Amino acid sequence: SSPPLVDGFGRVHASLRISVTDRCNIRCFYCMPLENVQFKPRNELLTFEEIERVARVAVSLGIRKFRITGGEPLVRAELPKLIERLAAIPGVDDLALTTNGLLLTDQAADLHSAGLTRLNVSLDSLSEEVFQRITRRQGVQRVLDGIAAAHDAGFRGIRLNAVSIRGLTEGEIVPLARFSRDHDLELRFIEFMPLDADRNWRETQVLSGGEVREVISRDVAPLTPATRGDLSQPAVDYVYADSPARVGFINSVTAPFCGDCNRLRITAEGQLRNCLFSTEEWDVRGPLRGGADDMAIKQVFRDCTSAKKRGHGGDDQQFASTERAMYQIGG
Ligand code: GTP
Ligand code: 5AD
Ligand code: SF4
Repeated sequence: SSPPLVDGFGRVHASLRISVTDRCNIRCFYCMPLENVQFKPRNELLTFEEIERVARVAVSLGIRKFRITGGEPLVRAELPKLIERLAAIPGVDDLALTTNGLLLTDQAADLHSAGLTRLNVSLDSLSEEVFQRITRRQGVQRVLDGIAAAHDAGFRGIRLNAVSIRGLTEGEIVPLARFSRDHDLELRFIEFMPLDADRNWRETQVLSGGEVREVISRDVAPLTPATRGDLSQPAVDYVYADSPARVGFINSVTAPFCGDCNRLRITAEGQLRNCLFSTEEWDVRGPLRGGADDMAIKQVFRDCTSAKKRGHGGDDQQFASTERAMYQIGG
């Protein structure tokens, strides 16, 4: 097959995050605009056939891991059919999905039998009041039911993702930590990044992973660093002294991890990106619909990878300002 996707800094790309829709059933303020959301028309989204073709080309270039994202991926009709197609591609080691969990009760069993291997569920708060302040919708109990349904469907190693926001989620740290210890979930705290559509992010709102870790060590149980496995994973993991549970910290703002990044992303409309914060995109949909052969699509992947910058602002923590907000990229 072809040589791997190596960028100018020696980073070998083995992971592709595939967004399947920009739509969502909630309105988290750190991602979606409150009003006048402009969703892409259906004919602009890649079809399942097109996504499968991109995925096969990606695997021929050394991609081994796919993560399905959104918007909220479970609002895309018949998603399990896409999972089935992707699971059938030889050479895929990991086929994961990141969801807000609201539709899991209905879909968990179909997703599992379609061949989905892993599930990350976003849940920032166990308090309905705080959940609503973040998402502008209701739903804690539905998410919890969804997680239980996923477990019943056979998913193991389910991860909980919680974005931390100063002035809002401090009170959620201990309940989330206790809940995940009790339910055998791997909890990860994510620092708030400037990817909200309404551009209200302020650095003062970033509740750092270091601060959250201190709270857990003090009020739940002492944490010690876990031995680092896969360096390309964004989370730095910790273990408890008294429980097999783990807690991870995705410190994208206070400790960027670009040096070990192995990820590419494709948006729901088929634009390839080399970074969450990249200001450029490489069109894959055009070539796909224009009858391009696999060589031409491989070249788009190579061009996108070669142009990757060292970090999201020259490693100086100055985030590039992207045109897109999180729901238009996929997280
Ligand atoms: P695992 O494969 O389970 O480790 O998943 P993951 O952490 O790669 O995926 P997930 O979708 O759960 O990512 C959690 C969050 O980490 C995302 O929503 C982002 O906020 C953040 N994240 C993931 N990849 C990147 C990245 O490349 N750069 C930055 N800055 N943040 C990222
Ligand atoms: N900063 C950090 N994480 C974010 N997410 C969405 N927007 C942001 C942001 N601005 C994460 C949340 C969400 C997932 C898809 O991406 O965990 O659920
Ligand atoms: Fe990779 Fe960009 Fe994320 Fe850095 S910010 S880890 S380069 S995707």
